[in-house]
Amino acid sequence: MDTRKKASKPIAIDLFCGSGAVSLGVKNAGFDVVGAVDFDPHACATYRANHPSVKLIQDDIRLIPANAFDDVVKKQLDLLVVCAPCQPFSSQNRKRSNDDGRLNLVEASLPFIESYQPQIVFLENVPGLASSGIFDRFRACLAKLGYEIAEPLKLDASELGVPQRRTRMIMVAVKGADLNTAIDIARLPRKTVRDVIADLPIPAVGRDAVLKDALHFSRKHSALNIERLRYIPKDGGSRHHLPEHLQLACHKNRKNASFSDVYGRMRWDDVAPTLTTGCTDITRGRFAHPEQDRGITLREAARLQSFPDDYQFIGNAGQVATQIGNAVPPQMMQSIAKSLLNAISSNK
Ligand SMILES: C[S@@+](CC[C@H](N)C(=O)[O-])C[C@H]1O[C@@H](n2cnc3c(N)ncnc32)[C@H](O)[C@@H]1O
Repeated sequence: MDTRKKASKPIAIDLFCGSGAVSLGVKNAGFDVVGAVDFDPHACATYRANHPSVKLIQDDIRLIPANAFDDVVKKQLDLLVVCAPCQPFSSQNRKRSNDDGRLNLVEASLPFIESYQPQIVFLENVPGLASSGIFDRFRACLAKLGYEIAEPLKLDASELGVPQRRTRMIMVAVKGADLNTAIDIARLPRKTVRDVIADLPIPAVGRDAVLKDALHFSRKHSALNIERLRYIPKDGGSRHHLPEHLQLACHKNRKNASFSDVYGRMRWDDVAPTLTTGCTDITRGRFAHPEQDRGITLREAARLQSFPDDYQFIGNAGQVATQIGNAVPPQMMQSIAKSLLNAISSNK
Protein backbone atom coordinates (compact mmCIF):
# COMPACT_ATOMS: atom_id res chain seq x y z
CA MET A 1 0.00 0.00 0.00
CA ASP A 2 1.24 3.49 -0.82
CA THR A 3 1.61 5.26 2.52
CA ARG A 4 2.91 8.53 1.05
CA LYS A 5 0.98 11.57 2.25
CA LYS A 6 -1.33 13.12 -0.33
CA ALA A 7 -0.63 16.82 -0.83
CA SER A 8 -3.67 18.90 -1.62
CA LYS A 9 -2.47 20.53 -4.84
CA PRO A 10 -0.91 18.82 -7.86
CA ILE A 11 2.87 19.16 -7.65
CA ALA A 12 5.41 20.35 -10.21
CA ILE A 13 9.15 20.56 -10.82
CA ASP A 14 10.59 23.41 -12.93
CA LEU A 15 13.83 22.49 -14.77
CA PHE A 16 15.86 25.46 -16.13
CA CYS A 17 13.78 27.72 -13.90
CA GLY A 18 15.69 30.99 -14.49
CA SER A 19 14.12 33.82 -12.53
CA GLY A 20 11.02 31.72 -11.83
CA ALA A 21 8.57 33.02 -14.43
CA VAL A 22 7.36 29.51 -15.24
CA SER A 23 7.02 28.70 -11.55
CA LEU A 24 4.93 31.84 -11.08
CA GLY A 25 2.58 30.95 -13.94
CA VAL A 26 2.30 27.32 -12.84
CA LYS A 27 1.57 28.33 -9.25
CA ASN A 28 -1.02 30.89 -10.36
CA ALA A 29 -2.76 28.13 -12.30
CA GLY A 30 -3.05 26.02 -9.14
CA PHE A 31 0.04 23.80 -8.95
CA ASP A 32 2.39 23.59 -6.02
CA VAL A 33 5.98 23.91 -7.29
CA VAL A 34 8.18 21.74 -5.09
CA GLY A 35 11.51 21.68 -6.94
CA ALA A 36 13.54 23.70 -9.44
CA VAL A 37 16.96 23.68 -11.12
CA ASP A 38 19.13 26.39 -12.66
CA PHE A 39 22.83 27.15 -12.52
CA ASP A 40 22.83 30.92 -13.04
CA PRO A 41 23.57 32.55 -9.65
CA HIS A 42 21.70 35.80 -10.37
CA ALA A 43 18.62 34.08 -11.75
CA CYS A 44 18.71 31.74 -8.73
CA ALA A 45 18.89 34.72 -6.34
CA THR A 46 15.79 36.14 -8.02
CA TYR A 47 14.12 32.73 -7.88
CA ARG A 48 14.77 32.38 -4.14
CA ALA A 49 13.47 35.88 -3.42
CA ASN A 50 10.14 35.10 -5.07
CA HIS A 51 9.73 31.38 -4.40
CA PRO A 52 11.36 30.85 -1.00
CA SER A 53 9.57 27.60 -0.22
CA VAL A 54 10.69 25.74 -3.37
CA LYS A 55 13.69 23.41 -3.20
CA LEU A 56 15.96 25.12 -5.74
CA ILE A 57 19.13 23.27 -6.74
CA GLN A 58 21.68 25.73 -8.10
CA ASP A 59 23.96 23.58 -10.23
CA ASP A 60 24.59 22.30 -13.73
CA ILE A 61 21.65 20.00 -14.38
CA ARG A 62 24.00 17.38 -15.80
CA LEU A 63 25.63 17.03 -12.39
CA ILE A 64 22.46 16.65 -10.34
CA PRO A 65 21.42 13.11 -9.39
CA ALA A 66 18.03 12.07 -10.73
CA ASN A 67 16.70 11.37 -7.24
CA ALA A 68 17.63 14.83 -5.94
CA PHE A 69 14.02 15.75 -5.25
CA ASP A 70 13.05 12.62 -3.31
CA ASP A 71 12.61 14.67 -0.13
CA VAL A 72 10.01 16.98 -1.71
CA VAL A 73 8.25 14.65 -4.13
CA LYS A 74 6.19 12.73 -1.62
CA LYS A 75 3.47 11.60 -4.00
CA GLN A 76 3.05 11.10 -7.74
CA LEU A 77 4.70 14.02 -9.54
CA ASP A 78 2.06 15.72 -11.68
CA LEU A 79 4.09 18.05 -13.90
CA LEU A 80 7.70 18.37 -14.99
CA VAL A 81 8.58 21.50 -16.99
CA VAL A 82 11.60 21.57 -19.30
CA CYS A 83 12.59 25.05 -20.51
CA ALA A 84 16.12 24.38 -21.73
CA PRO A 85 18.03 27.29 -23.27
CA CYS A 86 16.64 28.12 -26.69
CA GLN A 87 19.60 29.98 -28.23
CA PRO A 88 21.06 26.85 -29.90
CA PHE A 89 17.81 26.44 -31.88
CA SER A 90 16.89 30.11 -32.34
CA SER A 91 16.63 31.59 -35.83
CA GLN A 92 18.27 34.71 -34.34
CA ASN A 93 21.38 32.70 -33.57
CA ARG A 94 23.58 33.13 -36.59
CA LYS A 95 26.20 30.76 -35.17
CA ARG A 96 23.97 27.68 -34.91
CA SER A 97 26.11 24.63 -34.78
CA ASN A 98 25.50 21.02 -33.94
CA ASP A 99 28.39 20.85 -31.53
CA ASP A 100 26.92 23.52 -29.25
CA GLY A 101 27.29 22.02 -25.74
CA ARG A 102 23.84 23.36 -24.81
CA LEU A 103 22.13 21.10 -27.32
CA ASN A 104 22.04 18.10 -25.03
CA LEU A 105 20.37 20.02 -22.22
CA VAL A 106 16.89 18.97 -23.35
CA GLU A 107 17.98 15.36 -22.95
CA ALA A 108 19.49 16.17 -19.55
CA SER A 109 15.91 16.22 -18.26
CA LEU A 110 15.36 12.53 -19.15
CA PRO A 111 16.86 11.04 -15.95
CA PHE A 112 14.39 13.15 -13.90
CA ILE A 113 11.50 12.01 -16.08
CA GLU A 114 12.55 8.38 -15.63
CA SER A 115 13.02 8.84 -11.94
CA TYR A 116 9.71 10.61 -11.14
CA GLN A 117 7.46 9.51 -14.05
CA PRO A 118 5.39 12.73 -13.96
CA GLN A 119 1.84 12.58 -15.30
CA ILE A 120 2.71 15.44 -17.66
CA VAL A 121 5.99 16.44 -19.27
CA PHE A 122 5.83 19.96 -20.68
CA LEU A 123 8.55 21.34 -22.90
CA GLU A 124 8.79 24.92 -24.15
CA ASN A 125 11.33 26.18 -26.67
CA VAL A 126 11.71 28.09 -29.93
CA PRO A 127 10.01 26.47 -32.95
CA GLY A 128 13.46 25.53 -34.35
CA LEU A 129 13.82 22.75 -31.77
CA ALA A 130 10.97 20.78 -33.38
CA SER A 131 13.04 20.14 -36.52
CA SER A 132 16.13 18.93 -34.67
CA GLY A 133 17.33 15.37 -34.18
CA ILE A 134 17.43 16.05 -30.46
CA PHE A 135 13.69 16.59 -30.39
CA ASP A 136 13.09 13.30 -32.24
CA ARG A 137 15.34 11.44 -29.80
CA PHE A 138 13.65 13.09 -26.83
CA ARG A 139 10.21 12.06 -28.07
CA ALA A 140 11.42 8.52 -28.77
CA CYS A 141 12.68 8.25 -25.19
CA LEU A 142 9.35 9.51 -23.83
CA ALA A 143 7.47 7.01 -25.99
CA LYS A 144 9.67 4.22 -24.62
CA LEU A 145 8.75 5.34 -21.11
CA GLY A 146 5.08 4.93 -22.01
CA TYR A 147 4.14 8.54 -22.72
CA GLU A 148 1.49 9.63 -25.17
CA ILE A 149 2.91 12.63 -27.01
CA ALA A 150 1.08 15.47 -28.75
CA GLU A 151 2.40 16.97 -31.96
CA PRO A 152 4.42 20.11 -31.20
CA LEU A 153 2.19 23.18 -31.04
CA LYS A 154 3.16 26.70 -32.03
CA LEU A 155 1.73 29.33 -29.71
CA ASP A 156 2.02 33.10 -29.73
CA ALA A 157 2.12 34.75 -26.30
CA SER A 158 -0.07 37.58 -27.66
CA GLU A 159 -2.99 35.12 -27.88
CA LEU A 160 -2.61 34.24 -24.22
CA GLY A 161 -2.97 37.67 -22.61
CA VAL A 162 0.65 38.84 -23.03
CA PRO A 163 1.21 42.15 -24.87
CA GLN A 164 4.03 40.69 -26.93
CA ARG A 165 4.59 38.75 -30.14
CA ARG A 166 6.53 35.73 -28.92
CA THR A 167 6.13 32.54 -30.88
CA ARG A 168 7.05 29.44 -29.01
CA MET A 169 6.85 25.71 -29.57
CA ILE A 170 5.35 23.63 -26.82
CA MET A 171 5.26 19.88 -26.51
CA VAL A 172 3.06 18.01 -24.07
CA ALA A 173 3.46 14.34 -23.18
CA VAL A 174 1.17 12.56 -20.74
CA LYS A 175 1.01 9.33 -18.83
CA GLY A 176 -2.28 8.90 -16.99
CA ALA A 177 -3.56 12.40 -17.83
CA ASP A 178 -5.85 13.40 -20.69
CA LEU A 179 -3.81 14.59 -23.70
CA ASN A 180 -6.61 16.43 -25.54
CA THR A 181 -7.54 18.40 -22.45
CA ALA A 182 -3.88 19.22 -21.80
CA ILE A 183 -3.48 20.94 -25.16
CA ASP A 184 -6.90 22.61 -25.21
CA ILE A 185 -5.51 26.02 -24.26
CA ALA A 186 -8.03 28.87 -23.91
CA ARG A 187 -7.11 32.07 -25.77
CA LEU A 188 -7.31 35.43 -23.96
CA PRO A 189 -8.16 38.94 -25.27
CA ARG A 190 -5.23 40.79 -26.82
CA LYS A 191 -3.38 43.36 -24.72
CA THR A 192 -1.31 46.19 -26.18
CA VAL A 193 1.80 48.13 -25.25
CA ARG A 194 -0.47 51.02 -24.24
CA ASP A 195 -2.49 48.79 -21.90
CA VAL A 196 0.52 47.91 -19.76
CA ILE A 197 3.04 50.78 -19.85
CA ALA A 198 1.15 54.00 -20.66
CA ASP A 199 0.54 54.80 -16.99
CA LEU A 200 4.23 54.76 -16.02
CA PRO A 201 5.89 58.11 -15.25
CA ILE A 202 8.73 59.51 -17.37
CA PRO A 203 11.77 57.72 -15.94
CA ALA A 204 15.00 59.22 -14.64
CA VAL A 205 18.17 58.48 -16.61
CA GLY A 206 20.54 55.89 -15.14
CA ARG A 207 20.23 53.42 -12.30
CA ASP A 208 22.24 55.71 -10.03
CA ALA A 209 19.44 58.34 -10.04
CA VAL A 210 17.06 58.56 -7.08
CA LEU A 211 14.43 56.01 -8.07
CA LYS A 212 10.98 55.28 -6.68
CA ASP A 213 10.87 52.06 -8.68
CA ALA A 214 14.30 50.40 -8.91
CA LEU A 215 13.48 49.01 -12.37
CA HIS A 216 12.09 52.18 -13.90
CA PHE A 217 15.09 54.12 -15.22
CA SER A 218 16.26 54.66 -18.75
CA ARG A 219 19.68 53.73 -20.10
CA LYS A 220 22.21 56.50 -20.62
CA HIS A 221 22.14 56.81 -24.40
CA SER A 222 24.93 58.55 -26.30
CA ALA A 223 24.16 62.04 -27.66
CA LEU A 224 24.32 60.56 -31.17
CA ASN A 225 21.74 57.86 -30.38
CA ILE A 226 19.42 60.42 -28.77
CA GLU A 227 19.66 62.48 -31.96
CA ARG A 228 18.86 59.36 -33.98
CA LEU A 229 15.82 58.68 -31.80
CA ARG A 230 14.55 62.23 -32.42
CA TYR A 231 14.28 61.39 -36.10
CA ILE A 232 12.47 58.09 -35.63
CA PRO A 233 8.74 58.81 -36.03
CA LYS A 234 6.63 58.33 -32.89
CA ASP A 235 4.55 55.20 -32.52
CA GLY A 236 6.22 52.54 -34.63
CA GLY A 237 8.84 54.44 -36.67
CA SER A 238 12.01 52.70 -37.78
CA ARG A 239 15.64 53.54 -38.57
CA HIS A 240 14.73 53.73 -42.25
CA HIS A 241 13.59 57.30 -41.48
CA LEU A 242 17.05 58.40 -40.40
CA PRO A 243 18.70 61.07 -42.53
CA GLU A 244 21.80 59.89 -44.37
CA HIS A 245 24.27 61.44 -41.91
CA LEU A 246 22.73 59.57 -38.93
CA GLN A 247 22.56 56.16 -40.55
CA LEU A 248 25.07 53.59 -39.36
CA ALA A 249 27.72 52.69 -41.91
CA CYS A 250 26.84 49.01 -41.47
CA HIS A 251 23.16 49.69 -42.31
CA LYS A 252 23.77 51.71 -45.47
CA ASN A 253 23.29 49.88 -48.76
CA ARG A 254 21.82 46.84 -47.02
CA LYS A 255 19.05 45.46 -49.14
CA ASN A 256 18.11 42.61 -46.82
CA ALA A 257 15.89 43.02 -43.80
CA SER A 258 18.46 41.98 -41.20
CA PHE A 259 18.56 44.21 -38.20
CA SER A 260 15.75 46.31 -39.70
CA ASP A 261 14.15 46.60 -36.27
CA VAL A 262 17.11 48.13 -34.46
CA TYR A 263 16.48 51.73 -33.32
CA GLY A 264 12.76 51.17 -34.04
CA ARG A 265 9.97 52.31 -31.74
CA MET A 266 7.20 50.13 -30.36
CA ARG A 267 3.61 50.95 -31.33
CA TRP A 268 1.14 51.98 -28.66
CA ASP A 269 -1.77 49.98 -30.02
CA ASP A 270 0.09 46.89 -31.09
CA VAL A 271 1.81 44.18 -29.09
CA ALA A 272 5.55 44.55 -28.40
CA PRO A 273 8.09 42.64 -30.49
CA THR A 274 9.71 39.59 -28.89
CA LEU A 275 11.73 40.80 -25.93
CA THR A 276 15.24 39.40 -25.76
CA THR A 277 18.03 39.65 -23.21
CA GLY A 278 18.93 42.97 -24.89
CA CYS A 279 15.41 44.32 -24.39
CA THR A 280 16.39 47.77 -23.08
CA ASP A 281 19.04 48.35 -25.77
CA ILE A 282 17.82 50.23 -28.85
CA THR A 283 20.75 48.88 -30.87
CA ARG A 284 19.50 45.30 -30.40
CA GLY A 285 15.92 45.46 -31.58
CA ARG A 286 12.71 47.50 -31.76
CA PHE A 287 13.10 48.42 -28.13
CA ALA A 288 12.57 52.21 -28.18
CA HIS A 289 9.64 53.74 -26.31
CA PRO A 290 6.66 54.59 -28.57
CA GLU A 291 7.13 58.34 -28.08
CA GLN A 292 9.92 59.19 -25.63
CA ASP A 293 13.49 59.35 -26.95
CA ARG A 294 14.85 56.36 -25.05
CA GLY A 295 14.88 52.60 -24.86
CA ILE A 296 12.28 50.93 -22.67
CA THR A 297 13.07 50.56 -18.97
CA LEU A 298 13.43 47.27 -17.14
CA ARG A 299 10.01 47.94 -15.54
CA GLU A 300 8.43 48.36 -18.96
CA ALA A 301 10.18 45.21 -20.17
CA ALA A 302 8.97 43.28 -17.11
CA ARG A 303 5.38 44.43 -17.70
CA LEU A 304 5.57 43.56 -21.41
CA GLN A 305 6.62 40.08 -20.26
CA SER A 306 3.59 40.07 -17.90
CA PHE A 307 5.57 40.07 -14.63
CA PRO A 308 3.62 41.71 -11.79
CA ASP A 309 5.26 44.83 -10.30
CA ASP A 310 5.84 43.11 -6.97
CA TYR A 311 8.09 40.45 -8.55
CA GLN A 312 11.61 41.07 -7.22
CA PHE A 313 14.61 40.96 -9.55
CA ILE A 314 18.13 40.55 -8.17
CA GLY A 315 21.25 41.58 -10.10
CA ASN A 316 22.68 44.47 -12.06
CA ALA A 317 20.80 45.97 -15.01
CA GLY A 318 22.30 43.55 -17.54
CA GLN A 319 21.59 40.52 -15.37
CA VAL A 320 17.99 41.62 -14.79
CA ALA A 321 17.49 42.25 -18.53
CA THR A 322 18.76 38.72 -19.18
CA GLN A 323 16.33 37.25 -16.65
CA ILE A 324 13.42 39.19 -18.12
CA GLY A 325 14.32 38.42 -21.75
CA ASN A 326 14.85 34.71 -21.04
CA ALA A 327 11.54 34.27 -19.26
CA VAL A 328 8.50 32.42 -20.47
CA PRO A 329 5.89 35.15 -19.83
CA PRO A 330 4.20 34.13 -16.56
CA GLN A 331 0.75 34.90 -18.00
CA MET A 332 1.46 32.66 -21.01
CA MET A 333 2.55 29.86 -18.69
CA GLN A 334 -0.49 30.36 -16.47
CA SER A 335 -2.83 30.01 -19.46
CA ILE A 336 -1.10 26.82 -20.56
CA ALA A 337 -0.83 25.39 -17.05
CA LYS A 338 -4.58 25.78 -16.53
CA SER A 339 -5.16 23.25 -19.32
CA LEU A 340 -2.48 20.97 -17.91
CA LEU A 341 -4.22 21.14 -14.54
CA ASN A 342 -7.57 20.32 -16.13
CA ALA A 343 -5.98 17.30 -17.80
CA ILE A 344 -4.88 15.98 -14.44
CA SER A 345 -8.08 16.81 -12.58
CA SER A 346 -10.17 15.17 -15.28
CA ASN A 347 -8.44 11.90 -14.47
CA LYS A 348 -8.83 12.03 -10.70
C1 LIG B 1 15.24 29.88 -21.40
S1 LIG B 1 15.95 30.12 -19.83
C2 LIG B 1 14.68 29.53 -18.80
C3 LIG B 1 13.72 30.56 -18.38
C4 LIG B 1 12.82 30.20 -17.27
N1 LIG B 1 12.08 29.00 -17.52
C5 LIG B 1 11.88 31.36 -16.99
O1 LIG B 1 10.70 31.25 -17.33
O2 LIG B 1 12.35 32.38 -16.49
C6 LIG B 1 17.11 28.81 -19.73
C7 LIG B 1 17.76 28.70 -18.37
O3 LIG B 1 18.59 27.54 -18.39
C8 LIG B 1 19.65 27.77 -17.50
N2 LIG B 1 20.72 26.80 -17.82
C9 LIG B 1 21.46 26.76 -18.95
N3 LIG B 1 22.31 25.73 -18.90
C10 LIG B 1 22.09 25.09 -17.72
C11 LIG B 1 22.67 23.94 -17.10
N4 LIG B 1 23.64 23.25 -17.71
N5 LIG B 1 22.20 23.56 -15.90
C12 LIG B 1 21.22 24.27 -15.28
N6 LIG B 1 20.65 25.36 -15.82
C13 LIG B 1 21.08 25.78 -17.02
C14 LIG B 1 20.01 29.21 -17.73
O4 LIG B 1 20.71 29.75 -16.61
C15 LIG B 1 18.65 29.86 -17.96
O5 LIG B 1 18.15 30.43 -16.78
